[in-house]
Amino acid sequence: MFERSVAGYDDALFDAAGLRSTDQVLDLGCGTGSTSRRAARSAMRGGVLGVDLSSAMVSAACRRAEEEGLRNAEFLQADAQIHPFAPASFDVAISRTAAMFFSDRVAALAKVRRALRPAGRLILLVWRPASRNAWFLELTRALADGRRLPTPPPDAPSPFALADPDVIAAVLSAAGYADVAIRGLEGGMYLGPDPEQAYDFTLGFLGWMLDGLDPVRRARACEALRCTIDAHAGLDDVSFGSAAWLVTARSQQASAD
Ligand SMILES: C[S@@+](CC[C@H](N)C(=O)[O-])C[C@H]1O[C@@H](n2cnc3c(N)ncnc32)[C@H](O)[C@@H]1O
Repeated sequence: MFERSVAGYDDALFDAAGLRSTDQVLDLGCGTGSTSRRAARSAMRGGVLGVDLSSAMVSAACRRAEEEGLRNAEFLQADAQIHPFAPASFDVAISRTAAMFFSDRVAALAKVRRALRPAGRLILLVWRPASRNAWFLELTRALADGRRLPTPPPDAPSPFALADPDVIAAVLSAAGYADVAIRGLEGGMYLGPDPEQAYDFTLGFLGWMLDGLDPVRRARACEALRCTIDAHAGLDDVSFGSAAWLVTARSQQASAD
């Protein structure tokens, strides 16, 4: 479901990546591998390495790539922040909604830069602030049931940790990238084909917000969630507004290397 929920951004991401058939591509936080598979279809004479912390995600990614007969896609269960990638071994690094979960973004992206060849391309899709993301605002408002839930500190890993373009530019510059460009995009966040599946999907990734509620408040929050989802149901799907930054940069040799 998540693969599809943000797929509306894929054309912009892959246009920016401009993959060539011989490229070696690194997909950071690849999840179940939809962007890795698309990259593998473009880089047919090259290859793709998808890396994710979650072994369950990596297993699903392997299975799907195999089902599609993509022999040039490999997957690795690893922490992309610290994994010892071979130096200068990739032409492009992509990441769809994952880089903001790195705990030390400068160190992680500097490591990725060293894995890129000189002038290698980095393309990140990251969320713009929560205030621009109706999916987050409306779903969390329903589940909060009037509570003011704590927000993570700005530099802690979270979906919105790279929501500030000044922070993105500072992180990439400190990590040794040049030609940083940040473009605002808006699109839909697909939650499912119908309200029932959208409800289950939402509780799958935001259900933790019900923790600590007594049964009455929990039932009220779930009802509020159903109402919010119903209000966004169209003929074929349930979709909320979303906004992301498309970030592009090039690796440069840092004096510390
Ligand atoms: C929101 S999901 C996006 C998944 C995928 N990129 C997609 O768009 O379908 C974020 C992913 O980043 C992964 N992730 C977070 N921190 C990571 C790290 N340090 N190394 C590797 N993967 C990481 C998570 O396990 C999760 O699968």
